[in-house]
Amino acid sequence: MILVTGGAGYIGSHTVLELLNGNYKVLVLDNLSNASLESLQRVEQISAQKFTFVQGDIRDESILNELFSAYPIEAVIHFAGLKAVGESVEKPAEYYDVNVNGSLCLVRAMQKAGVTKLVFSSSATVYGEEAPVPYEESMPRGNTTNPYGTSKAMVEQILSDIQAASLNKPNPLDVTLLRYFNPIGAHESGLIGEDPQGIPNNLMPYISQVAVGRLPELSVFGDDYETPDGSGVRDYIHVVDLAKGHLAALEKMNGNVKATCAIYNLGSGQGTSVFELVNVFERENNVEIPYKVAHRRAGDLATCYAAVDKAAKELNWRTEKTIEDMVRDTWRWQSKNPHGYCSE
Ligand code: NAD
Ligand code: WQD
Repeated sequence: MILVTGGAGYIGSHTVLELLNGNYKVLVLDNLSNASLESLQRVEQISAQKFTFVQGDIRDESILNELFSAYPIEAVIHFAGLKAVGESVEKPAEYYDVNVNGSLCLVRAMQKAGVTKLVFSSSATVYGEEAPVPYEESMPRGNTTNPYGTSKAMVEQILSDIQAASLNKPNPLDVTLLRYFNPIGAHESGLIGEDPQGIPNNLMPYISQVAVGRLPELSVFGDDYETPDGSGVRDYIHVVDLAKGHLAALEKMNGNVKATCAIYNLGSGQGTSVFELVNVFERENNVEIPYKVAHRRAGDLATCYAAVDKAAKELNWRTEKTIEDMVRDTWRWQSKNPHGYCSE
């Protein structure tokens, strides 16, 4: 059985679905602070399979200890956390508590129970501001510019240290740090997808809410970057490809002869600009996205994309879906669910 923390969220729900499709048994722990049970009900609907859900907080060690003793958990995929960059600047203590302390609570409970395999949701943000593209896993972590990014870099360091220290103990830990680039898209059924609370911070949900009429127009944050068309370039990855990357990581760990702390980028290796994403969304979905050019957003980089060879070679995983698939699936989800998982 796989324990999926944060499994009701955007990436978690898509990963739970892929795990069920791969015949894994799944246990989800989520406090529903940024998700609703509806996402998991829809995962059951799509997969025609059941799994166990427990509502609880990742920082509650008594719940974690109970889960590890009650269920035959072989591995943990740890998504639970807070992820809004701007909010992390306003509420750093909360971000460090949930993301860093929460991860520590989890790893302590795992070690107590002798569970050794852990996959952690990290982010390309840990490469920092100065790293040259494409980002390679061998590059050192850079200077992060907000508490969210710092919390991811801290957890990477903490897990790497705990993993190293576990090597001369019984049940050494096997840790995989997955650095996601920019996940977008939705399951092709249009039943599950990204459902941000409030005004979206990220580009793709903003575009799709403009398309569906919930927001009047997109602001393009800067058209004077040193990029081919002046707008920011990112490595967008379809959330279903991303979800499959987690299964590839689990399979790799199952075959490991020696416990390690491994790092993989999960990205497409391709850069797409803001204007390109808007154009492809309009073209593929036959909708108009009104936009204006606004000032650069503080902390944004011009260009960010992944080196993908390591994941291809060692995980036997690479992305399969195109940017056209990403915008079509996003629009199928958003147009069928204009208010996300809420009915109005
Ligand atoms: P999400 O907010 O949709 O999912 C996170 C889930 O964790 C939610 O269901 C939320 O209810 C749950 N959660 C939050 N705090 C919790 C707590 N204290 N105890 C238990 N559950 C808790 O976000 P997502 O986009 O699915 O991201 C999943 C993970 O991937 C996060 O760790 C995020 O930082 C990381 N990540 C996301 C992106 C991205 O762009 N979406 C990029 C890189 C890394
Ligand atoms: C993409 C591009 C913006 C909104 C963030 C986090 C990162 C990771 C993924 C978790 C940029 C431009 C955006 C808008 C715009 N999350 N943009 N108008 O900033 O690459 O990454 O999410 O780990 O840590 O920082 O993603 O989608 O916010 O922005 O023009 O309304 O779209 O300037 O060039 P970002 P994003």
